[in-house]
Amino acid sequence: MTMPSNTVLNVLDEPVFLLDADRTIVYANNAAEKLLALGSNSILIGQSFVRVLRNPEALRCVDAVLAGQMRAQARFELDLPHRAHMRLTVAALETESPAIAVTLKDETALFQAAQMRSDFVANVSHELRSPLTTLSGIIETLQGNAKDDPAAQQRFLNIMQSEADRMDRLIGDLISLSRVEEEERVRPTDTVNLVHVVTAVVASLKERNESTRRVFDFVAEEDKCLVVGDSDQLTQVLQNLLENAVKYSKSGGRIILKIESKKSVPRLNSKVWAVSVSDEGEGIAGEHLPRLTERFYRIDSGRSRAMGGTGLGLAIVKHILSRHRGRLDIASAPGEGVTVTALIPALN
Ligand SMILES: Nc1ncnc2c1ncn2[C@@H]1O[C@H](COP(=O)(O)OP(=O)(O)O)[C@@H](O)[C@H]1O
Ligand SMILES: [Mg+2]
Repeated sequence: MTMPSNTVLNVLDEPVFLLDADRTIVYANNAAEKLLALGSNSILIGQSFVRVLRNPEALRCVDAVLAGQMRAQARFELDLPHRAHMRLTVAALETESPAIAVTLKDETALFQAAQMRSDFVANVSHELRSPLTTLSGIIETLQGNAKDDPAAQQRFLNIMQSEADRMDRLIGDLISLSRVEEEERVRPTDTVNLVHVVTAVVASLKERNESTRRVFDFVAEEDKCLVVGDSDQLTQVLQNLLENAVKYSKSGGRIILKIESKKSVPRLNSKVWAVSVSDEGEGIAGEHLPRLTERFYRIDSGRSRAMGGTGLGLAIVKHILSRHRGRLDIASAPGEGVTVTALIPALN
């Protein structure tokens, strides 16, 4: 056969195989070798393609094209060793040897995105339906049993109010999330002093939590901790982190806020400002930590709901920090409280 020029097929990111009419591999490009984790393509060449891939769908396509069809396509999962969603295309060549070309495309990312979208819609529907169910039940009771019971009516109206507030918070967070996602690629342009942001958020939270008398300790390394940022969004970050510390730690525990400079943080090269919120609550077990920024992920959804949580707070925080070229760190051990740190590239 005339070997296809390696330089052409090897620049492709997608694996390409050329097969003879008996399904023997006569050529495999670099991507194909890499995909099948073999050191040298001399191992692939000469082998039966069907044995290398071991997939009935792939076999069906190869045989269809060998039987005269111009093109065949299939989608299947492959363990590589991580589970990958692949699209395989087989096309007839106009030569006898090689007789067919096979390409593979890894569609895992597309597949996961579609999966995430449908999970998200299912979650939103569920979160909206449960307060609605409560409201419908109460309306029925108000029209029936509680018709002439003013005390019960008052009680039910209070529940209706809090369920309506819950729906309102959820919709507010959904709008916030979609706005933040939309803006994520647009860099902020203002100069923001993080000390002002933290001071303002602490003051407004103290006002709202006057009855609980939480102690907030705030220390900043400098009076001016400047970043390029969007002041409203950074306020939202601090509000979320501080509210979580208040909601999920035992009442009476101290909440400590710090702004420190850090250097050589992984993935962020320059100096960053690390804004941390620590509580003295019961902490979070390790297996939950990597999942806390997922939408609707809650360790205890009953408790989160009772506290007015939507499960979207940290997802919003993550997007905002990513827009600021920063990131979020959550450290905890059960029984030792939680420290959540927002890392943002420093301007000064
Ligand atoms: N400081 C904290 N201490 C303990 N658990 C926390 C803390 N912060 C967040 N969490 C956990 O992470 C979950 C997700 O937080 P978040 O996205 O803000 O949603 P929400 O507060 O609306 O439930 C919470 O439900 C809670 O289980
Ligand atoms: Mg929250």
